[in-house]
Amino acid sequence: MPRKKFVAGNWKMYTNLAQARELASGVAQGAQHSTVNVAIFPPFTWLLPVAEVLQGSSVSLGAQDCAPEKEGAFTGQVSPLMLLDAGCQYTLVGHSERRHGLNESDDLLNRKAKSALTAGLKVIFCIGELLNERDTNQTESVLLQQLSTGLVGLTVEEMTRVCIAYEPVWAIGTGRVATDQQAQEAHAFVRKVLRGMFGEAVAMETTILYGGSVKPENAGGLLAQPDVDGALVGGASLKVESFLAIVQSAATHRAD
Ligand code: PGA
Repeated sequence: MPRKKFVAGNWKMYTNLAQARELASGVAQGAQHSTVNVAIFPPFTWLLPVAEVLQGSSVSLGAQDCAPEKEGAFTGQVSPLMLLDAGCQYTLVGHSERRHGLNESDDLLNRKAKSALTAGLKVIFCIGELLNERDTNQTESVLLQQLSTGLVGLTVEEMTRVCIAYEPVWAIGTGRVATDQQAQEAHAFVRKVLRGMFGEAVAMETTILYGGSVKPENAGGLLAQPDVDGALVGGASLKVESFLAIVQSAATHRAD
């Protein structure tokens, strides 16, 4: 089975309620007949109203983070079960703005991934190296560490509900995108690590997204790479036209 292309929009801490509804509605209409899997990740507060807008559409809903626990005295946290109840199919785990901005450790991210998967969610597990790590040839060792600790203890069944997003930190929100070749090399390496951890079938079936300044202008080259199965889009997901142009680009480069 060829891997189906997947385009995910991470809205971060942007949009008010009216904008969230409008954006979701535009994406739902535009992606209606798409051959690509499409998901959007609004802020927590807009999950319920956006779930309503997406009802009956082919666009999936996801959260930007989840708690590592099911329930309890964890002020300000949101449990994966609550996300499921709110209509989410997905959650991001380990976005660099949490890894590096909020010092979330590999161990914590592993617990979040497990808690989300146990609840029944799908996970987009984000990894990526810092600029100084790339400049000092540590990209592969960083990715290996993030994957081997972050995904430790997951079962092969759980891995069918995990996507990886490779997002070089130096490319996120900077306008500086990885070259097609840099992305392909990193994705091929991720697939090799997955093969070592979970075997050939998981390695071949896992969707690996590229993220970091993906725009309609650069999406085509990235999505044409054999191991790039889609995109995790930040800035360009906040406008219906640019997000749909990336979805369209993925449809053109789909594997099936
Ligand atoms: P960007 O963000 O597309 O704005 O670089 C990507 C991301 O953070 O997932």
